[in-house]
Amino acid sequence: MSQEKWTAVDNYINDLFVPADPVLDVALAASRAAGLPEINVAPNQGKLLQLLAQSHGAQNILEIGTLGGYSTIWLARALPADGKLVTLEFEPKHAEVARANFVRAGFANQIELRLGKASDSLAQLVAEKRAPFDFIFIDADKESYPEYLVWALKLSRRGTLIIADNVVRKGEVIEADNEDSRVQGARRFNELLAAEPRVNATLLQTVGSKGYDGFAMALVVE
Ligand code: SAH
Ligand code: DHB
Ligand code: MG
Repeated sequence: MSQEKWTAVDNYINDLFVPADPVLDVALAASRAAGLPEINVAPNQGKLLQLLAQSHGAQNILEIGTLGGYSTIWLARALPADGKLVTLEFEPKHAEVARANFVRAGFANQIELRLGKASDSLAQLVAEKRAPFDFIFIDADKESYPEYLVWALKLSRRGTLIIADNVVRKGEVIEADNEDSRVQGARRFNELLAAEPRVNATLLQTVGSKGYDGFAMALVVE
């Protein structure tokens, strides 16, 4: 099996289940035009995030790692009219592109982008007692995933669903001596998640247009 085949099957899936979407297409085009890296979730993965948040009845969503706001818009679409989403990003250029995308998508009043290091913004959210969030999507720097898990738990309640992207890393996550700090971040995150008594969790391997990787899913149970 190859990348070519995974991409062809993703195209097949998206043709069936993710119809052409002017708002998301323009968001990606604006991100590309501004030179942002094309590391957003795939369309069918974005829709999965929407479905998960929707089935969870999420009214208050937290995202760590905005980029151009592609996954953010999918998640915001799961919200009721009075629902809110906070997304964290530390690159001013990414934030600027994302904010324009949120305005065009009609979510200017529901999405709050906080510019700054995610660890600082997370501490701020705790200090503000902004929590609890119903749904948390972790997708920023992989080295900090272990720390983001700690913050995510502080910002959770029983019933919060935590999803993390990029936790399999082309399968490199099974290599204990791998020297890539992102792989080590994912390994530490997965170990902490597995050992965490407050969650019921699993990982899912994913293949598709964005390569071979995986999602972590954790339900906060106490
Ligand atoms: N969730 C997006 C993709 C996010 S890519 C999507 O699927 O559409 C990861 C983003 O995290 C990048 O924009 C990067 O600038 C941001 N990031 C990396 N390290 C960060 C940090 N320490 N604090 C805040 N944002 C960070
Ligand atoms: C990469 C992919 C991602 O999904 C992400 O969140 C960050 C980086 C990458 O391929 O480098
Ligand atoms: Mg990702």
